[in-house]
Amino acid sequence: MKALVVLGAADGALSTYRIAAEMGYRTIAVDRSAAAPGVAVADEYLPLSTRDADGILRALASRGDLAGVIAPCSDIALPTLLQLTRALGLPVHLSETAVRASVDKTVLRGMLDRLGVSSYRWIEGHDPREIASRARGLRFPLVVKPADAQGGRGVTRCESPEQVPAAAQAAKERAYGGGIMVEEEIRGTHCGCECIIEGGRVVFMAMTRRTLSPPPLTLTTAHAMPTGLPPKVERACRRLVNRVCGLLGYRRGPLNLDLVITPGGEPYLIELGVRTGGNGIDDLTRICHGVDPVRAAVRAAVGEPFELRPHEPRPVMWQVLAAEQAGRLVSVSGVERARALPGVAELVILARPGQQARPYGEVSDKLGWVVLRGDSVAALDAASEAVARTLRFTVASHVLH
Ligand SMILES: Nc1ncnc2c1ncn2[C@@H]1O[C@H](COP(=O)(O)OP(=O)(O)O)[C@@H](O)[C@H]1O
Ligand SMILES: [Mg+2]
Repeated sequence: MKALVVLGAADGALSTYRIAAEMGYRTIAVDRSAAAPGVAVADEYLPLSTRDADGILRALASRGDLAGVIAPCSDIALPTLLQLTRALGLPVHLSETAVRASVDKTVLRGMLDRLGVSSYRWIEGHDPREIASRARGLRFPLVVKPADAQGGRGVTRCESPEQVPAAAQAAKERAYGGGIMVEEEIRGTHCGCECIIEGGRVVFMAMTRRTLSPPPLTLTTAHAMPTGLPPKVERACRRLVNRVCGLLGYRRGPLNLDLVITPGGEPYLIELGVRTGGNGIDDLTRICHGVDPVRAAVRAAVGEPFELRPHEPRPVMWQVLAAEQAGRLVSVSGVERARALPGVAELVILARPGQQARPYGEVSDKLGWVVLRGDSVAALDAASEAVARTLRFTVASHVLH
């Protein structure tokens, strides 16, 4: 049996372990945390950081059973993915440029500016005070973010110059390399975009309409698919992604992007990663279009052909479940009743009574998620309201000292 090396074992990677096993591969989980959920479902475990390419190489170099390497939902592991596939002679689908543009947002922005595509004003720096002073020259509102983090960590929307120093400090604390970016905000509809690339072009694209948490945060609290955007807007997005693939020299595999569509229908690329997306986007894409991007990503990793047979889109939505107030989680009730509601395709509870809970301010505050399906957007909304009425996270807000 051939083995697939999976870089990262966080909950976003679970579907990759499951699908690789269904496709007949042994899975080797690489994660520095033995408690990461993917470790329990993998066939083997390497307790190493996904950034420790040399260590992973030493552990695997003598094996003759490796089919490929994959880094689900994680930009941070992409340099390791590139190094391992090259050194081990496994199917390589990443270019150096594609990796750099995924990991470091300043690299992507610089490339897009040179091309004159999706270009808007932005600055970068390492000193929060200095960057806050330069940010006064930009048009507010601004988005302040780490140059190289993900999952909305350290990303803050600033309405006025007074908010920028604290936001820049928060971004710096979350940045792996200490780099801070300040960008002018593009106003419009926030979208996610999950693509499969073959021959340097989009062969499949699924867009979601994202709901964001209230300002100053920019966390995604829901994804709805299809977007309801006019077909010509989705065609413009596809043209943009094709150009970007050319720019990156990216030939084959998964590609996840964040876009903002202006009221005039022009797409702006905010960021990308040459990997599958998280936040249940794989489930949504499978239910909505009948194409599983995780399966396609595994096929790319092992060098097999894609099998893409999309059907007509079926409305589906992913929603974060989180506590309404901070405190110790006493109980989670109504789970089975909520699961049985019409329109509930999947309900995952990550929360354990006794843990600390708080309103959604970080991806790690997620207590679970629900996937809803229906014949129309109205049916999805009705299902969402029914879940909210049925499911209860009870929190004890009085902490005893
Ligand atoms: N310049 C911008 N204009 C409008 N929205 C933005 C901008 N930058 C970021 N955002 C919003 O914030 C979200 C998080 O920022 P992003 O750069 O994607 O960071 P992360 O890598 O943490 O996801 C984006 O998906 C988008 O919704
Ligand atoms: Mg993002």
